[in-house]
Amino acid sequence: GYEILPSSAYEAQIEWFKEHHDFVMEREWLSYSPSVVASLGCAIRALSEVDDEVIVMDPVYPPFYSMVRDNHRRLILHPLHQDDEGVYRFDIEKLRSQITSKTKLLVLCSPHNPIGRVWSREELVELSGLCLEYGIVIISDEIHCDLVYPEHKHIPIASLSSDVCNATVTLMGSGKTFNMAGFSISTVCIADETMRKRYAEEQHRLHWGDGALLSHVAFEAAYRHGGEWHQKLLYRLDENRQKVVRAFENTEIRVNAPQATYLAWLDCRALGMGNRALREFFVQQAGVGLSAGISFGREGSGFMRLNFALSFEMLERALEKITHALENLER
Ligand SMILES: Cc1ncc(COP(=O)(O)O)c(C=O)c1O
Repeated sequence: GYEILPSSAYEAQIEWFKEHHDFVMEREWLSYSPSVVASLGCAIRALSEVDDEVIVMDPVYPPFYSMVRDNHRRLILHPLHQDDEGVYRFDIEKLRSQITSKTKLLVLCSPHNPIGRVWSREELVELSGLCLEYGIVIISDEIHCDLVYPEHKHIPIASLSSDVCNATVTLMGSGKTFNMAGFSISTVCIADETMRKRYAEEQHRLHWGDGALLSHVAFEAAYRHGGEWHQKLLYRLDENRQKVVRAFENTEIRVNAPQATYLAWLDCRALGMGNRALREFFVQQAGVGLSAGISFGREGSGFMRLNFALSFEMLERALEKITHALENLER
């Protein structure tokens, strides 16, 4: 019953990326992985040594930190900061100052969970230019690339130029696009032959195989026939996104419409609560369990992350409960 992911499934994903992201991948660049986080760990192990430095932006999806630490690499945190409009940015000069001879990898989240940023072409050019200058490999987790709202466009960092492509490992998955996380299937794209060989050797040491037939069929079917469903999904998520922004308009919670993802990053700092109290407020007073911002890193202190990939009715209920609890908050 062992199966291999058939070429037709890879071809379906290649066609999707050509059509949706103007990114042309070759079949041999791609390989199967059971999960994006597993590929991240494998790439870290394959492309750096113990005690090498890995740059990660803060706040970010927590396994970025644990994959670096648990594989005994040094975590170099780059704090993202909000500009006057509340848009998160990295600071290229600060990044430059954080690089040492031990810095081997930069892990990018593009689009970025939890802040919902779609990095612009200019930002990606700047970031990749710096990495090329210092010989740093970019590991770009692009699992949220298909959940981008109409006014923005996702640019795969590897599509910028052949030089950047050869310095990048792109982690890709159907888990978010088609809500298929339970199918344990994703892919990794590595154009550079030497890096691909190192990654493949590490993967063989882990012996994770090629997954299950049902996942292979689902993966191919989703990329081949899921276009219309995906359009409808984006439309529904956009409605929910706007609903979330409107709900907090006249409250002390500040929220910018995410440019991508189904995640709203709620700035609750004006409530003046510690992280534990903030979490308890949402659970005990509002009856809604959100993800605590602090679990995404130090820069997430005072924030909460709300997943709005819900039915309209359930989202409405959750928002009503939160705004009601805010109104009744004793000061
Ligand atoms: C940025 C990011 N990467 C990876 C994952 C998980 O992917 P997988 O289940 O394929 O490991 C998530 C899920 O939330 C995510 O937000």
